[in-house]
Amino acid sequence: MSANPARHVLKISDLTSDELAEVLALASAPVTTAPLAHLGAALVFEHPSARTRNAAEMAVVQLGGHPITIRAEEVGLDRRETVEDVARTLGSYHRVVGARVARHGTLERMVAALSSRPHAVSVINLLSDVEHPSQALADLLTIAQCFGTLKGRRVAYVGDANNVCRSLVHAAVMAGIEMRVAAPEGYQLGPDDLEHAARLAGEAGLGGSLRQVASLEEAAEGAEVLYTDVWVSMGQEAEAAQRRSDLSPYQINEALIARAAPEAVVLHCLPAHRGEEITEGALEGERSRVFEQAENRMHALRGLLAFLLGSS
Ligand code: CP
Ligand code: NVA
Repeated sequence: MSANPARHVLKISDLTSDELAEVLALASAPVTTAPLAHLGAALVFEHPSARTRNAAEMAVVQLGGHPITIRAEEVGLDRRETVEDVARTLGSYHRVVGARVARHGTLERMVAALSSRPHAVSVINLLSDVEHPSQALADLLTIAQCFGTLKGRRVAYVGDANNVCRSLVHAAVMAGIEMRVAAPEGYQLGPDDLEHAARLAGEAGLGGSLRQVASLEEAAEGAEVLYTDVWVSMGQEAEAAQRRSDLSPYQINEALIARAAPEAVVLHCLPAHRGEEITEGALEGERSRVFEQAENRMHALRGLLAFLLGSS
């Protein structure tokens, strides 16, 4: 039983489709209030980050708050003390605890430890092995900026159907996007992900859909957005050679872009590995919007924080 009304975002579907739209509207609006004034945000990182750390810190500053970034080894999660004790300690100083974790369960333990506290402390997933929800918010913001609307857009994700893909497809169907995923066997979304997407699409009622196909050409045909991510996510380094070999046909390159819609844009959450999941030409070419997308990480996190501060 929760003693405080804090909202948490561990998965993108912790937001309803209406709330998702509200976050995107807040992300696009000028900042006129300081809901984090005199409040702090602890940002804990078990993995490296260029975009998420900087985007989150700046979003907190823009809302009047004070960010403190903490490398996991400084607090020693489950080494120096338990995840629960770290969460309760950080929660006694901060209004928000954001964390990038190797195992999604660490975030759930943080939420459980903070739920009995008298004051609201929101936990935000800054990337786990399961989801990357703040990335998906930035992805949708970028697509909306490119095309004006989200409903009915055709988006193709190509490669490893990983944490980034999972948040993207769920956000997409909640926003009415027609989503296609092309991944080889062993790297595809599971039945639970597909069922979850179907449920989210139905609840949103905006006509969003998700189809998983084996052929990347089929996914790319007529798509308005081509999206990919690294083949070796953080924590998967031991499998790197096998992954590169299995995923090698699933590359965004100039030939694939030619199959997409003439106005298609290329997105990548970054960091990119040129020559692996994406060619230099595709990443740097005129269709690429990857650095607009990277900037949007900050606006999306600001929208999310403003929403969480307003709703709990
Ligand atoms: N896209 C993304 O999350 O980048 P970082 O790993 O640099 O934060
Ligand atoms: N899938 C990648 C995303 C990096 C932002 C990873 O988890 O490492």
